Amino acid sequence: MKSAVSELKKIDEKIKIIDRFPDGVFSFSTSLNNKDFLSFLEANPPIFLRHIHPIHGVLFISENRWAPDTVGEFITPLGKKIKPGKKTSVQARRIPGEYDHTLFSYKNALDPILRDTFYAQNVVQRPEQIVSIFVTPSTEIDVKNSNEYEMNPESPPPWKQVALIGISTPRENLCEWSGGIVRFSKEMGVVSRAEFKLLEAMEIFDISLPPHGIALDLGSSPGGWTKVLVQKGLYVTSVDQAPLEPNVAKLPGVRYVQSKAEHFRGEAESFDLLASDINRDPVKSARSLIAVAPFVKKNAPFIMTIKLADKNFPKLIDKTLETLRESYIIKGVKQLYNNRDEVTVWGIRK
Ligand SMILES: C[S@@+](CC[C@H](N)C(=O)[O-])C[C@H]1O[C@@H](n2cnc3c(N)ncnc32)[C@H](O)[C@@H]1O
Repeated sequence: MKSAVSELKKIDEKIKIIDRFPDGVFSFSTSLNNKDFLSFLEANPPIFLRHIHPIHGVLFISENRWAPDTVGEFITPLGKKIKPGKKTSVQARRIPGEYDHTLFSYKNALDPILRDTFYAQNVVQRPEQIVSIFVTPSTEIDVKNSNEYEMNPESPPPWKQVALIGISTPRENLCEWSGGIVRFSKEMGVVSRAEFKLLEAMEIFDISLPPHGIALDLGSSPGGWTKVLVQKGLYVTSVDQAPLEPNVAKLPGVRYVQSKAEHFRGEAESFDLLASDINRDPVKSARSLIAVAPFVKKNAPFIMTIKLADKNFPKLIDKTLETLRESYIIKGVKQLYNNRDEVTVWGIRK
């Protein structure tokens, strides 16, 4: 949360944190108007802040009411924020607590209203507009700091929950996934958790893979990324001093080279994709990516994780990116949901 707040402070030093919730979630107010705030954010894409949504309504839910019904009734006063006819998703989240309803019940309550009143197409994926609902059983929400909310004063105490509601586009939210949480189902045969990092990077950065191309995977053991790339139809040269898991090593399309990345040599401009998940000092890993750059085709995408062992990680990230810029154009850097003490960078070969 500290890093995300620092990123917000670079955009508006007068940012005020209003409430803090578990799991790094917080509400804040900005002194900028919405348009300026969003364009500054777009000009300085944050690395650690994964997801935001506006708060247009603060809804106090009385003890005798069912929360999804209350939210459903309240969506019409928020109607001026809703653009009619759009592909619209309902994304509900909540902090841990006692609830008498499922998250899915918000979607069930709102979808018919959005469809019938606002001619929305109800969708789950690829929305053009998102109704975000954040529910907390704590009714000690500090809403005094803003007069911009719609509220439901007729909802009499005692309250059991509060819902914070906002309507926005996926771009304004920084991410089309609810809360920036990108979960993949744990299918049988998952080699390592690392697989989710690669799948998420491709999804979040919208990287399209060259069909039937050749990928170079550095720091590939035990083989999660190699397996994902083969499943996506690529041939993979998989480089690590540690062995691949036998099930991955024997996949058709995998060529395993037992070597340190910095010693690997290939044919000039032969790879269509470069992936690196090497767990060593990221500046040294970046130098390995520079060393293999002659073997990567021009404009081919690369994806690399930057391990944040160093406490001074803003400097470490900057130094790593600076090193990479010798041979690559950086397109995006993000701490993904599936990243732990690392961030993921992607770009293309110059
Ligand atoms: C996080 S693991 C990679 C996981 C892999 N991406 C997967 O999906 O299974 C990091 C790997 O980097 C490798 N590594 C560390 N230093 C390396 C180097 N100099 N060259 C190549 N691989 C290296 C380690 O042996 C380790 O297997």
